[in-house]
Amino acid sequence: MCGIVGYVGPDAKSRTLEVIMEGLARLEYRGYDSAGVALVVTDGIASAKKAGKLANLRAEIEAHPLPGSTTGIGHTRWATHGGPTDDNAHPHLGGDDDRLALIHNGIIENFHVLRTELLDQGVVFRSETDTEVAAQLLARAYADTNDLTSAMQQVVNRLEGAFTLLAIHADTPGQVVAARRNSPLVIGLGDGENFLGSDVAAFIGHTKSAMEVDQDQIVTITKDTVSVIGFDGSPAEGKRFEVTWDAAQAEKGGHSSFMAKEILEQPHAIADTLLGRTDEAGRLVLDEMRIDPVRLAEVNKIIIIACGTAFYSGLTAKYAIEHWTRIPCAVELAHEFRYCDPVIDAQTLVVSISQSGETMDTLMAVKHARALGALTLSICNTHGATIPRESDAALYTHAGPEIAVASTKAFTAQIAACYLLGLYLAQLRGEDSTVRTVMQELAQIPGKVEHLLGRMDRVREIAHFMADTRSVLFLGRHVGYPIALEGALKLKEIAYIHAEGFAAGELKHGPIALIEPGQPVFIVVPSPHTPYHLHDKVVSNIQEIRARGARTLVIAEEGDETVVPFADEVIRVPQSSPLLAPLLTIIPLQVFACQLATAKGLDVDQPRNLAKSVTVE
Ligand code: G6P
Repeated sequence: MCGIVGYVGPDAKSRTLEVIMEGLARLEYRGYDSAGVALVVTDGIASAKKAGKLANLRAEIEAHPLPGSTTGIGHTRWATHGGPTDDNAHPHLGGDDDRLALIHNGIIENFHVLRTELLDQGVVFRSETDTEVAAQLLARAYADTNDLTSAMQQVVNRLEGAFTLLAIHADTPGQVVAARRNSPLVIGLGDGENFLGSDVAAFIGHTKSAMEVDQDQIVTITKDTVSVIGFDGSPAEGKRFEVTWDAAQAEKGGHSSFMAKEILEQPHAIADTLLGRTDEAGRLVLDEMRIDPVRLAEVNKIIIIACGTAFYSGLTAKYAIEHWTRIPCAVELAHEFRYCDPVIDAQTLVVSISQSGETMDTLMAVKHARALGALTLSICNTHGATIPRESDAALYTHAGPEIAVASTKAFTAQIAACYLLGLYLAQLRGEDSTVRTVMQELAQIPGKVEHLLGRMDRVREIAHFMADTRSVLFLGRHVGYPIALEGALKLKEIAYIHAEGFAAGELKHGPIALIEPGQPVFIVVPSPHTPYHLHDKVVSNIQEIRARGARTLVIAEEGDETVVPFADEVIRVPQSSPLLAPLLTIIPLQVFACQLATAKGLDVDQPRNLAKSVTVE
């Protein structure tokens, strides 16, 4: 939520503006309500900002070019305080002479008090944002200290809430000062140039050498130096790491959208997440987690916390985790968990799932769980992100950069990672043969997904014909239930169609009243091998809604002929054991949503009102 970039380069003819604009383009998934840049130039600060997508800012700069500079900051916004207007766009200028510029990601919770204080001092505000308050405070602190880093230190100690701030001052060319609390910030280390970004995508085109920044730290970069101190002024050091993916992976590469590309990347995302997790004897080795197996063996309760798509991956994994480990596993929305007075102790394992590792609701829930004494494990796709760093242990998905706001490959990779965790816990309880069998089955999943992706033409056709549809329902049972929820979420997110997922068994308790002639309903049919005759029960559900006029779009395993008489369309998925089926059944639903949104002419990657990384509560 909000993307930020900072850069200091070698000379005023350098490509400062270009680097910042390129960084913003790569971070635009974080927010696209407005965008802006500010540069230190000979006679002060030059800035440009525009409501709307980055293209508007680009056009503005082309019409009114900015002077050359060594030092600059850029921002792409997801509006919180104040609507998406030119005035509310960042950067915000500060001081009587506008010689300071500042950008912000997060929410300053005590901004009202601070704003009133500044108004009393005669400050005139030009926006409705909380950010401008920080800019004005920083300009005043700079006037007292003549040092941007010390000024930042003074200001952050007055702010409450979540923030990453980046600032430049006309008196200090060649320097960008940043601060972070509960919002993301990473440093990119170049040769004679340095970078700051919300994530490594901001500078991946220029360097793979990066440095993590801890909570409550202030970073000052020049072209040759990086210094880090705590909010209390104590010296600190960032932790260096190498980025393992390259710029090409964050490009569309000829696909119509990032989402279309990321759907197709799922065989690799799942395979890479499973890669190198077993030893020669076939035993799972999850050293990466850095967790004490003795403590893990004592776990008697698991709570998964997550939001959005990550929540549905947790709901999916619950079935397998409980089945393999016999440990009770609850799945909670992170923003609800924190306030529901959860029953937790040292034997509770709280597993957070987050693609970005920055979702504020999830981060706060993790902190809460830790404070209550739970063992916390983060399943995350982003190295160096806040949530894994704030957790006792981390298990990374290796899905590669996910750019489209609607999550696809991260979802299947998250399920794969949860399964690894479930199997590892089962192994600690002596279930070695289950682990071996399931790992062998899991190894075949990427190939099956590949095969399935090659046969999506009919799904694309159906989506195309349904572009005018106003409502779609999704039914599933057992592991198919969270898949129905995720299928509906995909359609809401990117196609703006009313869509709802239901547990098929719940149908008769209310939702069946929604069925009228022509109502499209996707049904995720359990594999015929699912216990308790669930398959047959869902086939009966299909008959019930068909009898009431529903148009039935049935997702069923290859060879399952029982569904044919009651299906308007049968979408086939390869056979698998019941618990692994979600890794396959979600694929047609992702393709359907992507194609339908494309057919409606919508921006698939940047749906309205949303942002990929939600760093506010
Ligand atoms: C936002 C995004 C969703 C995503 C959710 C959780 O709501 O729009 O696509 O699933 O955040 O994100 P996370 O990074 O924590 O997985």
